[in-house]
Amino acid sequence: MRIFSGIQPTGDKHLGNLIGGFRQYAATQEQGEAFFCIVDLHSITTDYDPADLRERTLDLYAMLLATGLDPTRSTVFAQSHVTAHAEASWLLSAVTSYGQLGRMTQFKDKSMEREFISSGLFTYPVLMAGDILLYQTDIVPIGDDQRQHLELARDIAERFNSRFGWTFVVPKGVYPEVGARIMDLQEPTNKMSTTGGSPQGTVKLLDEPDVIRKKFRSAVTDSGREVCRADDKPGVTNLIDILSVATGKASDAIEAEYGDSGYGPFKTDVGEAVVALVEPIQARYRELRGDPAELLRLLAVGAEKARAASEPTIEAMYSNMGFVRFSR
Ligand code: AMP
Ligand code: TRP
Repeated sequence: MRIFSGIQPTGDKHLGNLIGGFRQYAATQEQGEAFFCIVDLHSITTDYDPADLRERTLDLYAMLLATGLDPTRSTVFAQSHVTAHAEASWLLSAVTSYGQLGRMTQFKDKSMEREFISSGLFTYPVLMAGDILLYQTDIVPIGDDQRQHLELARDIAERFNSRFGWTFVVPKGVYPEVGARIMDLQEPTNKMSTTGGSPQGTVKLLDEPDVIRKKFRSAVTDSGREVCRADDKPGVTNLIDILSVATGKASDAIEAEYGDSGYGPFKTDVGEAVVALVEPIQARYRELRGDPAELLRLLAVGAEKARAASEPTIEAMYSNMGFVRFSR
């Protein structure tokens, strides 16, 4: 089974990314042949700083390895290192509907927020479809916000297959179960995010341990004093979920343990558990990030593996579409 996911090298990564994203990647790499792509080409579709892109690509790569991706077991690589991605995007544009691209809610939302709307922002989902289809992907672990893009990728695959003959596996999206949403510690009805969330309510993976402890101590809790999961207790529910992931304890056991002993000690313990979870990740990250030459060496290995895996597909695309080829 082939598994593919793409992650943008933008924004500081936070506890929600670790719990809802990175941990899943590390778990799925055990289930089949996994590809994890740092989608740097997608990051130029909105205004950005070139020096920043370079640093963040290396930051994200180091973080993916620090959170458990194994570059010898999985293929972890940067999208721009495999030129087939840009090529596939152009070829697939022939079977992508202009009208359907215009109905993408992410495009509508993002184009509303800015004055200059790049054409790349509009064709973004075509590039994404190519990422997935080039690897004959069976399964795409992905956030719920990407559901519409994945459906479009499936449509593109089907249209290409029926127009030019069978070329692509039609991929399936795998969405995290409910509860895989970590909420902002200050505004627990919003999801934790470094771009939209409150700074005090967002626990960055590279925050100092004391900063993490402080953010949990000042987390917003709800009225009452009972530690239990409930719809009208979004703050406490979120903290129980976080503690459960960080310690591996079931939420029932956590409720039984804290009961009505008050929120103070509970919040202190959640903070300590998160510090214990992220400290080893931070140490590995610093070690990896401190050796850019080694990161580049590993990235080159990933690029080579990804090129080899995507080569038969891009070749079949050109050939089935009627382009003159030299090989075969
Ligand atoms: P992003 O950095 O927003 O592109 O997200 C990268 C990954 O982290 C995606 O797989 C998301 O599903 C996951 N993620 C982002 N924010 C959260 C959150 N607050 N709770 C759980 N998972 C999240
Ligand atoms: N669009 C995705 C996001 O913003 C990132 C992405 C690009 C991706 N290509 C992909 C995800 C291919 C899965 C598969 O999160």
